[in-house]
Amino acid sequence: MKRICIEELQHHIGETITLHGWLYNKRSSGKIRFLVMRDGSGLVQGVVAKTAVSEDVFNRFDQLTQESSFSMTGKVRQEQRAPGGFELDVTDIQIIHIAHEYPITPKEHGIDFLMDRRHLWLRSSRQHAILRVRHEVIRSIRDFFDSRGFVLMDAPIFTPAACEGTSTLFETNYFDLGKAYLTQSGQLYGEAGAMALGKVYVFGPTFRAEKSKTRRHLTEFWMVEPEVAFNDLNDNMDLAEEFLEHIVQTVLKNRAPELKMLERDTSKLEKVRRPFPRISYDEAVDILHKKGIPFEWGNDLGGTDETVVSEQFDRPVMVHRYPSEVKAFYMKRDPENPKVALAVDVLAPEGYGEIIGGSQREDDYDILIARIKEHNLPQASFDWYLDLRRFGSVPHAGFGLGVERTVSWICGLEHLREAIPFPRMIYRLTP
Ligand code: 4AD
Ligand code: MG
Repeated sequence: MKRICIEELQHHIGETITLHGWLYNKRSSGKIRFLVMRDGSGLVQGVVAKTAVSEDVFNRFDQLTQESSFSMTGKVRQEQRAPGGFELDVTDIQIIHIAHEYPITPKEHGIDFLMDRRHLWLRSSRQHAILRVRHEVIRSIRDFFDSRGFVLMDAPIFTPAACEGTSTLFETNYFDLGKAYLTQSGQLYGEAGAMALGKVYVFGPTFRAEKSKTRRHLTEFWMVEPEVAFNDLNDNMDLAEEFLEHIVQTVLKNRAPELKMLERDTSKLEKVRRPFPRISYDEAVDILHKKGIPFEWGNDLGGTDETVVSEQFDRPVMVHRYPSEVKAFYMKRDPENPKVALAVDVLAPEGYGEIIGGSQREDDYDILIARIKEHNLPQASFDWYLDLRRFGSVPHAGFGLGVERTVSWICGLEHLREAIPFPRMIYRLTP
């Protein structure tokens, strides 16, 4: 017999089928027993009537503990009131494994308790919803670039040098070659890809030895980084807003039940439509001053500053032209004002902060060498990167979007740790 998933039940009304899964819940009422099975695709209620099954089968119901694995056979019936909308009139139950006493019960648990049992916590409905949204976000990212002529280009994880500043590098020993570092960003390799293929995107895990304990920082997170030859800052912003609109609207269209489960106010997401407001860093500073925040020109925007700025808008806001001092070495300075870089950060609404960081890249060989020196970076490690400015250098731009920050915002989560299956943070390396 073909194995059927709970989410396929709508196509099997009136048929007798067998489902395989785990016990989510059960209860008794007189001569009837109810059990809720989950199989990862959904929930379904099984109805076991004493008169309809053998004594054996009826007793098996009693043996089932929470998260025990089993199969059940029965006839599919539509039932609006049941979880999932269908019921099974059970004729047989086969036990696969009786679970030990399950640590996660419907009562409230503390976050550390749950995080220590993340491998089991993933079985709960809320985590299912988040993981499905994450899946949809990743799929929409790939669809977006794949349907626009971008080539996926994987960047290495072991790298010889920093991309995003030396303070957050994870170091490891690399045979006789000395130190290697876990990549902070695939961008530099993406730039090589753009010079080879025109339009590429790098998509993979990235690492930052973040010592901060904020709800917005992981030490391991996933980033997608498009890089496009001949794009300038404006082209980069056009791409970023089209991209973000696509992700949010795709999730809204395809994952409505999950967002409902998460009690997400989707009216806020509906508004994520182009064009997004574009303001300069100077204008952002004005906003902060008008709100009475003593912000000094030249500093980077902190988390609270970002929240205050983004609260002025009902959709993501693009802040461009940051002071070059606070930005990475590879960012091109504005020819009209060399104090600022042709950078752009996209700040999500509702206090979710920076989800995209990007820029036009420095394409001049001599200036780039000067920047590498200013930032005290080891020039030898960047020699290959400088080749991109030696052989047919062109204007180009790109950005990086953090997957977990995006998932967290779309799901309305309080903390990034729920946006990735197994989070890595300063105080967490397990499970
Ligand atoms: O702004 P960042 O550091 O930019 C770069 O790494 C560039 N090389 C990207 C590029 O231009 N190709 O990081 C980009 C995004 C941030 O906007 C944020 O969404 C996410 O990556 N991010 C983090 N997410 C989780 N935890 C952290 N510690 C993060 N650091 C950055
Ligand atoms: Mg950034």
